[in-house]
Amino acid sequence: MNLPFDVAAYLDASLLSAATTLGLTERGFDPEVRVADPAHGDFQANGALAFAKREKLNPRAVAQQIVDSLDELRERFDISLAGPGFINFRLKPAALLAWLQAYDSEAHLQSGAAHAHAGQTWVVDYSSPNTAKQMHVGHLRSAVIGEAICRLLEFTGAKVIRDNHLGDWGTQFGKLIYGYKRWVDDEALLTEPIEELERLYKLGHAATPDGSPELEEARRELVQLQSGDPKNVALWKKFSDVSLAAFEQIYGRLGIHFDHNLGESFYNDQVERIYRELTETGLAQVSEGALVVFHPEHPRFAKQPFLIRKADGASNYASTDLATALYRTEHFKADGIVVVTDFRQGDHFEQLWLTARKWFAAKNYRVPALHHVTFGAVTGEDGKALKTRDGDVIKLKALLDEAEDRAFALVTAKSPDLPEAERREIARTVGVGSVQYADLAQNRSSNYVFSWDKMLALDGNTAPYLLYAVTRIHSIFRKAGLDPSTPPVTGASPPETPQELVLARKLVQFADAVQLATSQLRPHFLCLYLFELAGAFSGFYAADKVIVDAPAVRARRLLLCHRTLIVLETGLHRLGLRTLERM
Ligand code: ARG
Repeated sequence: MNLPFDVAAYLDASLLSAATTLGLTERGFDPEVRVADPAHGDFQANGALAFAKREKLNPRAVAQQIVDSLDELRERFDISLAGPGFINFRLKPAALLAWLQAYDSEAHLQSGAAHAHAGQTWVVDYSSPNTAKQMHVGHLRSAVIGEAICRLLEFTGAKVIRDNHLGDWGTQFGKLIYGYKRWVDDEALLTEPIEELERLYKLGHAATPDGSPELEEARRELVQLQSGDPKNVALWKKFSDVSLAAFEQIYGRLGIHFDHNLGESFYNDQVERIYRELTETGLAQVSEGALVVFHPEHPRFAKQPFLIRKADGASNYASTDLATALYRTEHFKADGIVVVTDFRQGDHFEQLWLTARKWFAAKNYRVPALHHVTFGAVTGEDGKALKTRDGDVIKLKALLDEAEDRAFALVTAKSPDLPEAERREIARTVGVGSVQYADLAQNRSSNYVFSWDKMLALDGNTAPYLLYAVTRIHSIFRKAGLDPSTPPVTGASPPETPQELVLARKLVQFADAVQLATSQLRPHFLCLYLFELAGAFSGFYAADKVIVDAPAVRARRLLLCHRTLIVLETGLHRLGLRTLERM
């Protein structure tokens, strides 16, 4: 009796086919299968209500008619009708057992999940900091959320292209070159490159006040860069290279590897085509010397222009982003594009996507799914923007170092007997994982209050709690002298005790958590699920002894332990965290 990975999708398909036989589908019946309140069942189908209302029928009678035609599902589910016309499904213990037996490794969970985006290519643009500047906490949020989204899309079958869209072009480079040519400290450029570039930009800026001959000189440097002067181009290239090398250190600690670093400069010579096509298709018009796009159907963008070429003829963020959308569509043949930035770029991306959709449709280009994934600001516990005590920006390297130091203290308190080198290694995983998880665990749309104590707590929806749950299951196997890669689970009987049943049902719902997190591009749904799963495991482990004499009972409890382990590990890996065997 095998059962597919995604039981809700399976029920949805079964109900749809029953409804088709009954002639309801052609009248617009949609089963609407969801995870149910555990008091009523595992899943419920609500579709009879909306359908009956529309068709002026008795919803309970419609639901009953469907229930009566679901005979082949009864082997696996207890089916009942409730309220005005809900259909409830509860998996039978034998069906739960069959699901648990089938999904026995991270690879099998993956092959079960790899349908929603199978055959699709998605480009994810995340982190995307500006060169010659420190990455700030916003870029860290974007990196963490973006990487989780990449891994969720991959898990559900997509080919993912990770693209770091560096802010590496703009007028600031004139002043930076001006400062560099006069005051560069070569030693500092090697040891603290970004700090040195920031210092040089500040010097360059201060030395070139408005109207001064020095400013004219900085402008000449910029013009030379833009017209391809080899010396200035080489300098600009160096700024990008040293910046990227510094960023890579942070990415390495977060387990992030970009496939491309196609920054704004890459698109600089592709903007003429954008102006031409948007003008040809009638989408863009000249207004006060600038090229702009209006969206007459939109409450705000009917009047608020999307400026795609400045009055002085220069390109801007909108022109390069339009070229970027086109390149991803044509060159990568993207089915979906995701850009992860903070909420303040909301208007820009709304106008960008509106424009791109109309333009691509007018030119008969493919129109990918276009998503702007936003997140709220990061604040300290005082509600103010996160800064150091002296009011400087937080350096990300220092932030990750502090996370590891704090995690080291935590691990040392918990397991003082482990050798120091191992405690350091564990602290690296727990420290960075805590920063990642704290960011992922809450709805990304909210502002995020940065709190060391909360993110490192061993209780609650935190990385330490979940990583600890993983190590606890490893230790069950270790103490019993068993290898968790070959758990002795043959001959397991179906789950039976209340706690076994709660845990088994929760495990089957992994598919729904993945589906929800991926379709909404909101990793917190998966975090919440993993937290609840760990809770269900604790309940089970407190109530039911695992290593008992009765072989069938022992095998099924080891099965539950093992499947909890692989679901927790798989989930955490999909969020971008590493896991541990001991801590
Ligand atoms: N560089 C921008 C920033 O630091 C983010 C770029 C996001 N990607 C894009 N295609 N606009 O805010």
